[in-house]
Amino acid sequence: MNKCIIIPKIKSIEYDRTMKYIDYQNEKISSYGLGTTGFWSGKNPGLHECIITAYNEYGMNLFDTAEMYGNGRCEAELGKALKGISRENLFIVDKIHPDHANVRDFDKSLSDSLTRLEMDYIDLYLLHWREKVDLSFLVRAMHRAQKAGKIRYWGVSNFDINDLEDLFEKGGDDCFCNQIFYTLFERGAEAGLLPLMKKKGILPMSYSSLGSNYYSHPDIHRNHRIMSMCREYGVSPEACMLKMNEEAGFAALFSTSSLSHLRNNLQELPDETYTAIKPVLDEEFPAPEHLYPLVKI
Ligand SMILES: NC(=O)c1ccc[n+]([C@@H]2O[C@H](COP(=O)([O-])OP(=O)(O)OC[C@H]3O[C@@H](n4cnc5c(N)ncnc54)[C@H](OP(=O)(O)O)[C@@H]3O)[C@@H](O)[C@H]2O)c1
Repeated sequence: MNKCIIIPKIKSIEYDRTMKYIDYQNEKISSYGLGTTGFWSGKNPGLHECIITAYNEYGMNLFDTAEMYGNGRCEAELGKALKGISRENLFIVDKIHPDHANVRDFDKSLSDSLTRLEMDYIDLYLLHWREKVDLSFLVRAMHRAQKAGKIRYWGVSNFDINDLEDLFEKGGDDCFCNQIFYTLFERGAEAGLLPLMKKKGILPMSYSSLGSNYYSHPDIHRNHRIMSMCREYGVSPEACMLKMNEEAGFAALFSTSSLSHLRNNLQELPDETYTAIKPVLDEEFPAPEHLYPLVKI
């Protein structure tokens, strides 16, 4: 597949840490990334600290934001948090709101996002969700932005199988990524969407990899079997959840504003430990038996 690389990047960052990297289309993307919705209501010193720690101590280079988050506030705070870090060592994901993915607004949205981020380019620019966006226009606009050096790759978010098929039909074969909701509690993509993405060479990226508004989902901390396995092996259930996404092939996004949660989530999880715990995860939260529409949150 012809993936256009606009700006050359440093490809060998050596960290003496546990972070794994997805080697994808000549890119080195950390398999875990931090989201920025925590900045929604304004400055969040906890999140600033988590971003810097994730980069410096764990070698995370994947950070996700969107123009919609806090009306651009989250982009601006992310830009501030990353000030001082060599731009070429980062992989920044940003998203355009579907209301702006049209002839009138696309260029302005992109340039406003760059201004708020205080960056010259975005590594991966996604359509946040499909709605009624003209996909032919989207593909053309993304290609134009690539040629102008404003984005390096483009992709989509919340696209189900039929949406991706429509996108391919409109010339979107070089779509780099589909960012979707996928977590231990919601594994629907395994039934069809995930295999399709892999077949078409589209990077799967999971958002809300810890189940988002955490405590309204089946709280993993209340699952006695999983918790007793975690205690036995001395690992956190969050690390197990993220590892499950990683093993399924996802670049897994999560968010936290707490340094202790960050460390807890990025805890080392040896392969043997995960192999022992995975069957219990599968029994408690089984893979889907049939295809059903993609869940979006
Ligand atoms: N494309 C899309 O449509 C879309 C939709 C939703 C989200 N996203 C992206 O994905 C990112 C992550 O998603 P998300 O924030 O919805 O969900 P998430 O990462 O699954 O969950 C975040 C919640 O989990 C809590 N948490 C994290 N680690 C924890 C731990 N060790 N123990 C207990 N609680 C913990 C966080 O609180 P603390 O801060 O207290 O740790 C926060 O409330 C977002 O920031 C955004 O960038 C994209």
